[in-house]
Amino acid sequence: MKRDNFEKASFKDFENIPVQNIYTTAKEFETYLNFLKDNGHLNYRIESLSPVGPEMNLLLPGDTHPTWCVCLVSNDYLGFSQHPLVKAAVIKGVEQFGTGSGASPAIGGHFVYHQRLEKKIAAFYKRTDAILYTTGYTANSATLQCLLHKDDRNKDPSVNDLAILDMNVHASVYEGVLTTTVKTFLHNDLIMLEHVLKHAQNNYRTIMVIIDGVYSQDGDVAPIAKIAEITHRYGAYLVVDDAHGIGVVGETGRGVIELHNAFDQVDIITGTFSKALGNIGGYVIASPEIITYLKYQSKQHLFSTTATPAVMGILKAIDLIDEEPQWKMRLWDNIEYLKNGLINLGFDVGTTASAVIPVKVGDIMKTLEAGRLLLKLGVYTNPIMYPAVSKKNARIRMNVMATHTREHLDKVLHAFDEVDKQLSISNRFSEVPK
Ligand SMILES: Cc1ncc(COP(=O)(O)O)c(C=O)c1O
Repeated sequence: MKRDNFEKASFKDFENIPVQNIYTTAKEFETYLNFLKDNGHLNYRIESLSPVGPEMNLLLPGDTHPTWCVCLVSNDYLGFSQHPLVKAAVIKGVEQFGTGSGASPAIGGHFVYHQRLEKKIAAFYKRTDAILYTTGYTANSATLQCLLHKDDRNKDPSVNDLAILDMNVHASVYEGVLTTTVKTFLHNDLIMLEHVLKHAQNNYRTIMVIIDGVYSQDGDVAPIAKIAEITHRYGAYLVVDDAHGIGVVGETGRGVIELHNAFDQVDIITGTFSKALGNIGGYVIASPEIITYLKYQSKQHLFSTTATPAVMGILKAIDLIDEEPQWKMRLWDNIEYLKNGLINLGFDVGTTASAVIPVKVGDIMKTLEAGRLLLKLGVYTNPIMYPAVSKKNARIRMNVMATHTREHLDKVLHAFDEVDKQLSISNRFSEVPK
């Protein structure tokens, strides 16, 4: 890629370049990163010297001293990574069991805290069986890879499976379906989903429809109950990843599945402990036979060391969702305050219904510049561009926390107003309101 094309480039352009040796590609990518850095647009991997929180002490690009910024980049929606009772549970876990588990689950690495966590997360969703993975990413990628297959030399439906994805699902799902046949439908488009299912019916061994509960770039939610009804009508199974929904959405924080009262209609639930539960790790909840199958057949589970005793903090965090609902209430007060403030300023926040709030910008360079200016004004957000979203759909993405104060959020709104004066992002600057 030529330097004059860097303005329109994204990380994706440096993936798997034909003919070029990987060392040449890496060198070219480095030049691109330096181009971003020279323009103050390399707002990634910013080092924080303080804990996760609504404010963090950041070593900003080019600075030698840290700066306190209001942060909207953390998925620790309820602030549980800093909750004294969660921290105490982690400390107790480490004191009782040490810092590591020492082996993979089948051969000595399955401990009482893993067993309790499997049962607890399953019960949270009114089920009996779950399996743990060391990240939310692998919960999706490893499970799908284990359950779905294709045989490229043989089109016989008796040996081929099909994954039908909402186009906006997380990267981990796309990775999980690399070894099966894949079809996609436009985001939340039920007519298209039904069309795909109708044509696929009877042509595959197992068909799975895979969606997110809350979508991570737009913060909008899936109509799970309707999707479940269509999916099952055509003999397919429904998989829902509600990584951003747990703890945040639904009357008691059971996510989009609770919002749409679809507890009995989802065949496989996946999710993560890394967001509202303030820790790390992923889970899959399904029928007892599918979970047992994964425990003995899913390679990333079977051949990888289990989570550390620090996961005992997750047991407490799950309890706190029920015991301290005030965090979810505070979070929603903050979500409404920030969302309405941005709308009143004329920004396009799309159809978010969660703690993920995008401000749609469109152009990649303008989005990166907005990220830089916001940071200069002491507000840390995430500029998101292709391939995480489509090429013309770059945006600033924010994650709201229960622990943000009104002062924090007012600072954010003021900063957006200032940036808008320079970059004309809001509909105050368009002839036809967006
Ligand atoms: C929808 C979704 N699924 C899965 C993941 C992966 O979870 P983890 O970061 O815990 O590996 C993410 C992470 O950002 C996500 O947004």
